[in-house]
Amino acid sequence: MEYTWNDTLKLGQPDIDAQHQEMFNLLMELSVEMKKRARGKNKVNKILDTLETYSRQHFELEEEHIVKNQQLRKSNRVGYAEFLRKASRIRDLFEQGYYTQCRLINEEMFAWMYIHIRHVDQQLMANVLKV
Ligand SMILES: [Fe+2]
Repeated sequence: MEYTWNDTLKLGQPDIDAQHQEMFNLLMELSVEMKKRARGKNKVNKILDTLETYSRQHFELEEEHIVKNQQLRKSNRVGYAEFLRKASRIRDLFEQGYYTQCRLINEEMFAWMYIHIRHVDQQLMANVLKV
């Protein structure tokens, strides 16, 4: 399945939309570099570094918005922990040469982004507007 950023994923909050788009771009770059297998290793590690730092910043920004909804806050926290675990898993498996598994995890991360934006973040935005 092809995962691409499109306007239906925009939530109307420019800072959060820009971060989501950048996370999609990083996942796409990761997918391209992983196809190079061992030759892509340095670049794959750099992209994972950036993705981890960037998604932590994004998560913190969202946490600031979700102060009033504990349930949503908890669900977002669990989701991000899983997302970061997947990034770490790719790093380990790529090092060991398990390229097919890395590709599958990369696809799971794209799928997670869709679910995160369409379900968690849309509720988040509804909440922000109520505050
Ligand atoms: Fe988000």
